Amino acid sequence: MSTTTGSKPVHDWSAAQYLKFEDERTQPARDLLARVPIQAPKRIVDLGCGPGNSTAVLESRYPNAHIVGMDSSPDMIRKAKTALPHREFTVEDLHSYSPEESVDLFFSNAVFQWLGKDERFNIVKKLMEAQPSGGVFALQVPDNLTEPSHVLMRETAENGPWAATLKNVGRDTFQTPPEIYDLLKPVCSKVDIFHTTYYHNLENHAAIIEWVKGTGLRPYVDPLSPEEKEGFLSEYLKRLEKAYPSTYDGRVLLPYPRLFVVAVRK
Ligand SMILES: C[S@@+](CC[C@H](N)C(=O)[O-])C[C@H]1O[C@@H](n2cnc3c(N)ncnc32)[C@H](O)[C@@H]1O
Repeated sequence: MSTTTGSKPVHDWSAAQYLKFEDERTQPARDLLARVPIQAPKRIVDLGCGPGNSTAVLESRYPNAHIVGMDSSPDMIRKAKTALPHREFTVEDLHSYSPEESVDLFFSNAVFQWLGKDERFNIVKKLMEAQPSGGVFALQVPDNLTEPSHVLMRETAENGPWAATLKNVGRDTFQTPPEIYDLLKPVCSKVDIFHTTYYHNLENHAAIIEWVKGTGLRPYVDPLSPEEKEGFLSEYLKRLEKAYPSTYDGRVLLPYPRLFVVAVRK
């Protein structure tokens, strides 16, 4: 299956690439869940569940809830079914997804940044309509578009023989906290917004590339030929080496800001 960013084809997500940094990618799911104020939800949906890592976090806090994971990537859902064979997982797209029953907790870790700016909160609000009063919608998104990792990705795209191919690639900026509050508060009794910067301790600069290869770099390298891809990655690495200092023990700290929203249905 392919998805599209701009006019360029993007291949299916790779669960194996994504899971190279499983612990680091799952920590925000744990931190988001810690702020969810429901004690015993009956039905939970993990929106964009990926390989099931966020679903496992939900299961550890709510072992008795009925938990369903949905994701548009067949590779991710295959992996999720293997990781948690006793749970229900479905290949569905957030653009058309609608749950069959009322849902007490919608949980979405690192997914809504991939939707268009104009559609994200329409989808959130449409899903919240299926929730009882007191139901919770919890989401986390990376806030890293202005980090060197992403600025340099765009700079590399604009300055090479691949510039025309990558002209319209990139993802929309995310809504600001005041915008999120104004969009959600009319249908919510409470909208809790917070922000954290993680400092991921990575082996070297090449590991930054391995990290973003599983997520933000995909739309940039997927449309390239193998030779172009190699050239792109080599240019990108040179820029990263200049931007991120090495630590005393030869490693690299990757600052990774993330934005969290926990909304309670009126
Ligand atoms: C960064 S991963 C997050 C995986 C997991 N939730 C976690 O906590 O690590 C983003 C996931 O969102 C899924 N995704 C992206 N767009 C989607 C859409 N429109 N509908 C459903 N899933 C989508 C991708 O397939 C991918 O598995």
